[in-house]
Formats: sequence, C-alpha cells, structure tokens
Amino acid sequence: MVVGFSMTRSAALPDDLRDTPVPAHVAIIMDGNGRWARERGLPRVAGHREGAESVRDVVRACRQIGVRALTLFAFSAQNWQRPDDEVQALMELLGRYVIEERGEIMDNGIRLTAIGEVERLPGFVRQPLAMLMDDSAKNSEMALCLALSYGAREDLVRAVRDLAQQVVDGKRAIEQIDEQLISSALWTHELPPLDLLIRTSGELRISNFLLWELAYSELYFTDVSWPDFRRAHLFDALRAYHQRERRFGRTSSQLSDDSSKTDE
Ligand code: FPP
Repeated sequence: MVVGFSMTRSAALPDDLRDTPVPAHVAIIMDGNGRWARERGLPRVAGHREGAESVRDVVRACRQIGVRALTLFAFSAQNWQRPDDEVQALMELLGRYVIEERGEIMDNGIRLTAIGEVERLPGFVRQPLAMLMDDSAKNSEMALCLALSYGAREDLVRAVRDLAQQVVDGKRAIEQIDEQLISSALWTHELPPLDLLIRTSGELRISNFLLWELAYSELYFTDVSWPDFRRAHLFDALRAYHQRERRFGRTSSQLSDDSSKTDE
C-alpha cells in the first residue's frame, strides 16, 4: 500500500522550512529503543518494534521533502554481542521491514542499499535484502542505506587493506592514495557527502558510525528517544541545520564573498 508519498515537497514541509535547502544526505543513529521500552515496563524488543515505525515515518518524510540519501544505523558490528534473543528479534524486524516495505520502496523510486558486513546477516534478512537492492538499483528519487553489521573502523581497515594490496600488486602507486581514493574505497562511496548526522536519545557519541564521512557534517543531538522520533522531530533537526554556517575550514567573510560572486 502506498501511503502519503504522492504529496508535493512543499506540502510535506512546514511553512518555515519551505524555502530552505534540504540536506542532500542525512544519517541517523537511532538510539534509545531499550530505554523507551524500560520506561514503559516493556521488553526491549517493544522499543525496537516501535523504532521500526519511526523508520517508516522518517523514510517517508525524507522522500517527500527531497532528501537524496538517508543512512540509518540499524545494527552495528558490535551489536552481535547483545543477548541472542535480542539479536534474533532485531534480525526478524529487519527481515520483516525489507519484505513489508518492498511496495513502498519500489513505488516511490527509492534505491535500497546497505553498508556493513552484510554477509554476516542470517539468510532470512540477506536474501530479501539482496533481492530488493537488486530490483531497486535503478531507482533514483532517494537512496535508503541501511547500516547493518556496520562499523566505521571495520570499513576503514578493509579499505586500507584493499588499497595496500593494490600497491603490493603493482596496480597503484603509493602517491595515488589521496582523500578521494580512500572515499571511493569505503562502503559509502556511492552516497553523496554527509550533510547532517542526527543522534537520538541524549547520548553525545558517534559510536563507530561513518567516522571518515563525518569530517564536515553538522551534528544534531536530541533527547527524544528513537521510538518517539517522528517527522516533526526531523523538521526540528532541519531547523537547527539551517542555523549553522558550514565553513569547511574557511572564514565567514570568505563564504559571503563567494556567495556574492555566485549571485552576480
Ligand atoms: C539502539 O537502541 C538501536 C538499535 C541497536 C537498533 C535499531 C533498530 C531499529 C530502530 C529497528 C529496526 C530497524 C529498521 C531499519 C527496520 P538501544 O537498543 O541501544 O537503546 P538503549 O540505548 O536505550 O538501550
């Protein structure tokens, strides 16, 4: 069933955000599911289940407002250490999400991608995921990237080994290794530069997420727990994002000089 996707961009945005540019790439550390459940006397998995509802709403909102890529930290390389029953419940939720959202993803031109050691996932997640990634590969309205068994250090280690091997094999000179080449060796190489990182639930940490990609991203932390996070909270993050001046190491006056040149 397709719900609510057909809305125009401006109808989907609150009035005060209508004329502001939307970040091209948003990433989210979806934290606080366990605490949300505990506060309600529920098992942790109830928090993850409600968190999947937040995923549905935020994906829809991002697609409607014109975000080009949304990366969600759904399962870290370290999350395998959680109790077996929680890992199993998370895998079942992920498998179900990929199967149930297939229609919306395809009907709305979303390209599903994944970063992380996806080969570690059980078959009941890996197979529908691989199929939907394949079938949606040509969709171009928005990329939805699920970070699954993902760790940024793990990605960097893998990329460094790949590049070192190319040097050892004589396929590449050491001098060719630069920022661009490293970026292109990472799992995220197909995604646009990361503009905005959101972390829910009050923790002020990066937790091994997108360490390289975050170099010039804006960071937004909110106390709202992930299961409570809906599009209204995303719009709060966008409001904060628009207050920021992104200088990329330059000065404010250099930036205003540049923008007056482009205005000419
Ligand atoms: C962190 O909260 C959250 C996770 C480890 C899992 C995120 C998974 C989902 C939101 C549900 C399924 C995802 C998709 C894409 C359908 P926590 O459990 O660490 O919370 P706590 O810090 O309060 O214990």
